[in-house]
Amino acid sequence: MASAQDTFTLKNGVTMPCIGFGTYDTSDEDACRVVLDAIEVGYRLIDTAAIYKNEAGIGKAIATSGVSREELFITSKVWNTHRGYDKTMESFEASLERLGLTYIDLFLIHWPANEKQFGADAEQINADTWRALEDLYQADRVRAIGLSNFKPHHIEGLMKHAKIEPMVNQIEYYPGRMQAETLEYSLEQGMVVEAWSPLGRGKTLTNESIAAIGARYGKSNAQVCLRWLIQQGMLPLPKSGNIERMAQNLDVFDFELTPGEMEIITQQENPTGRFWDADEIDF
Ligand code: A2P
Repeated sequence: MASAQDTFTLKNGVTMPCIGFGTYDTSDEDACRVVLDAIEVGYRLIDTAAIYKNEAGIGKAIATSGVSREELFITSKVWNTHRGYDKTMESFEASLERLGLTYIDLFLIHWPANEKQFGADAEQINADTWRALEDLYQADRVRAIGLSNFKPHHIEGLMKHAKIEPMVNQIEYYPGRMQAETLEYSLEQGMVVEAWSPLGRGKTLTNESIAAIGARYGKSNAQVCLRWLIQQGMLPLPKSGNIERMAQNLDVFDFELTPGEMEIITQQENPTGRFWDADEIDF
């Protein structure tokens, strides 16, 4: 990737921007202003979800941005309360309406149903949810479909039932919270892998080893973290409420980390002290 305007091509031929704007924890009231700023500084991929409760605000931004709908790439996700075929369909229609759109570019299953919560039914629940996404895709309601937070064994379970392969997996990934096996497996399956919380909720920003690397290039910790993700073949989804920092986070295509620097960043401890494991979640 040589610039923020570069794209990934999904396995169905659809292109998507190589970096996107995350909106987790952005209120509906703030979402319109924040997303208008993000679009102004050049983001074209906007990532939301039903559970973020900000789709209406984002919809207003899309409608008033002056950028054509075709230039934007909008992602949303079905939340855990709406797994299964019928509820996923309902959730999709509600997201679409809140966003004020006629189609969504990418629709994801937010979390896999796991055995801890659903026992032996987990695989079938995921298969039923996925069937809804397949039907939405085949009806041209969405341009691409994928997963979020799925580990390799969840993907394998899904593939036993799927007619259409997932095109994307969006996972938690930042220095100290790597999911190397999931990354490798998802890339091998031809998926684009998106990184959520790419700055560790901002906690990587005070890391001194990362700062020392950034100083060599005149780059901030945030920029180094994003670059580290890009060089691993990932699509980062940074968030910021500040227009300068939004722009800074797109300015990550004019330097290259060495293999040694990549390794130092990979060795950092988890700054948040926790991570979400899809096999352990109970929400
Ligand atoms: P702010 O909104 O004040 O810019 P993540 O994407 O991992 O969830 O991290 C988001 C956090 O990182 C937010 O708190 C955001 O704060 C902060 N942040 C995002 N980009 C930058 C940046 N370039 N420099 C400093 N802080 C940043």
